[in-house]
Amino acid sequence: MTDLQVLVIEDDEDVRLGCLQALILEGLRAEGVGSVEKAERRIGPDFPGVVVSDIRLPGRDGLSFMRELVARDPTLPVILITGHGDVATAVQAMRDGAYDFIQKPFSSQILVDVVRRAVDKRGLALEVRDLRRQLAAFGGLDSRIIGRSEPMRRVRDTIAGVAKSRADVLIRGETGTGKELVARCLHDLSGARGNFVALNCGGLPETLFESEIFGHEAGAFTGAVKKRIGKIEHAAGGTLFLDEIESMPMAMQIKFLRVLQERVVERLGSNKEIPVDFRIVAATKADLAEEGRQGRFRSDLYFRLAVVTIDLPPLRARREDVPLLFDGFVAQAALRHGREPPEIDDATVRDLMGYGWPGNIRELRNLAERHVLGIGLPLGSPVADRPVPLGEAVDAFERSLITEELRRQNGNVLKTAKLLNVPKSTLFDKIRKCGLESAD
Ligand SMILES: Nc1ncnc2c1ncn2[C@@H]1O[C@H](COP(=O)(O)OP(=O)(O)OP(=O)(O)O)[C@@H](O)[C@H]1O
Ligand SMILES: [Mg+2]
Repeated sequence: MTDLQVLVIEDDEDVRLGCLQALILEGLRAEGVGSVEKAERRIGPDFPGVVVSDIRLPGRDGLSFMRELVARDPTLPVILITGHGDVATAVQAMRDGAYDFIQKPFSSQILVDVVRRAVDKRGLALEVRDLRRQLAAFGGLDSRIIGRSEPMRRVRDTIAGVAKSRADVLIRGETGTGKELVARCLHDLSGARGNFVALNCGGLPETLFESEIFGHEAGAFTGAVKKRIGKIEHAAGGTLFLDEIESMPMAMQIKFLRVLQERVVERLGSNKEIPVDFRIVAATKADLAEEGRQGRFRSDLYFRLAVVTIDLPPLRARREDVPLLFDGFVAQAALRHGREPPEIDDATVRDLMGYGWPGNIRELRNLAERHVLGIGLPLGSPVADRPVPLGEAVDAFERSLITEELRRQNGNVLKTAKLLNVPKSTLFDKIRKCGLESAD
């Protein structure tokens, strides 16, 4: 609590210095300025301290400044110093939200007592605010990373636990398990102001990779006409997301290790080291320890990256999450397409839970989208473990269109054929093929 500060706004230098001295002697961190204009720049949102202000000041007066401060942040204590005998103003100030007032001339003891109480109150208010924010962020995490299974609970706990620490994190998981989503959550919850910069280590030829990451000076190599800021510098104060880190070229790995250890970059064509503060979140589908043993990945880099690891299990290893995820994605897709979310019957849920999900959550999400669009879910037991062929999907889509229109036209084939813009005979064929005549 003692790291909170006291900002004293007082144009009379003797009074200002007297205040500062008294406060500092009490172990409080106090600073003084002579005008509201000078104070304004120092008081941002979540100002970690309290304000003591004279009312009569050159330029803007302390009373109107106090009203503005309290309007912006009602928990910020502002103590006003009033002239001798100016009781009416003081009373009005209290009504307008001042924390307290002291009348000139005042003793150091009175000032110190009032300020101490105000500092305690401010400390508590900031603490509560911080807790609320953490809670909100954590609540948000629940809806962004869906899943009730034990491993997913652990994933969320780890994210909430390490996000603020800005420690480097390695995320492991098969395709579509949510590695990028987790990386973004880590960034969003870190409270860092900088950017989230993503770089796919597999997507670039080796030569480009280097200038992409480190940047280069003009004339560093043929074709380097202008200076270029690399991804690392773009991620300053934020997060560098290294996707598919297993495919980072060996030659780059050694350079990268250095960056990781020393947190400096050298642009190509320059020998100036630029210090950069950033967090690395790396993602991999591979077993990097094994890659290391096979000589395809530097073990020292692996150990450096794997300080904190988050493992995302494949969907088939946490089938209990399937219905919840499917519901969530169906609701999202319905909203996006402006449709009513369709019913999900028990047989469908059983099929979904029995499926192997080679594409994991991304595949589930696509399927939910198709369900909303009425393309159907061709997961019926024999097909359950293979991806859905296009022909089947198209048939299913056709069937659902015809069924829907027939129902709307009360089974009138002529009207339906007209509305779907197909010859009557074609529609009859299709109805027979789809086995719809019995349903009517
Ligand atoms: N637990 C989850 N809850 C809600 N949505 C999720 C969850 N996990 C993943 N998703 C969603 O699934 C999709 C795939 O996730 P993401 O792109 O993060 O996977 P990935 O592991 O990076 O895949 P790849 O290795 O193929 O790049 C995204 O749309 C993501 O928002
Ligand atoms: Mg990804």
